[in-house]
Amino acid sequence: MNIVECRDIKKTYQQGNVAVVALDGVSLDIKRGGFIAIAGPSGSGKTTLLNIMGGLDSADTGEVVLDGNRLNDMSQSKLADLRLRGVGFIFQAYNLIPVLSALENVEYVMLLQGVPSTDRRNRAMAILDDVGLKDTYHRRPAELSGGQQQRVAVARAIVSDPYIVLADEPTNEKTSPLYFPPTTKWSWILRGGWSCSMTGRWRMTR
Ligand SMILES: Nc1ncnc2c1ncn2[C@@H]1O[C@H](COP(=O)(O)OP(=O)(O)OP(=O)(O)O)[C@@H](O)[C@H]1O
Ligand SMILES: [Mg+2]
Repeated sequence: MNIVECRDIKKTYQQGNVAVVALDGVSLDIKRGGFIAIAGPSGSGKTTLLNIMGGLDSADTGEVVLDGNRLNDMSQSKLADLRLRGVGFIFQAYNLIPVLSALENVEYVMLLQGVPSTDRRNRAMAILDDVGLKDTYHRRPAELSGGQQQRVAVARAIVSDPYIVLADEPTNEKTSPLYFPPTTKWSWILRGGWSCSMTGRWRMTR
């Protein structure tokens, strides 16, 4: 079964008087448990496609089906719920919450999901330990290096066990757990049953 199906996705942005075509009829399927990587030059529409696939943005035309749910038909609140429970995003710019510590950033999604506080804290600490951030629980993003911030972002994306991870260039920091090729940095993901591949841009499903 496919976890994602995209059919003829088109997206145009208006930049002043200029119409910028970001996506022009993209179709692809991703099998459950599989992975794909999207590679392309800067500005070719990779982030736009990931955002549309994960329900963060909508296509002008075309159809997106995520885990059997047709996103075109969903209300904003259903879409938000689907994202919360099923999709882990690793954003290109990390998008950590600046006033929260590393631990609180990782806990935050679970807080929204209603996970009890002790469980939340334990899971957040365990995953931060896994990505090598045991000593930085209480530091805010501004007190972390780029690579450390990226690892917090990876931890946040996978801690609540989403059925798909949409990872937008999580490989650009050498300390990223997804950095290619050091196998030691992959092992914790593979241990958890995740599979991934890369050509510069990543997507992971389990
Ligand atoms: N919100 C927006 N408003 C206007 N134009 C946008 C917007 N978002 C993206 N674009 C334009 O759409 C095109 C695709 O952008 P996108 O961010 O998807 O590219 P990308 O492949 O992820 O690039 P990069 O490798 O630099 O991250 C670009 O030309 C960009 O300028
Ligand atoms: Mg991008």
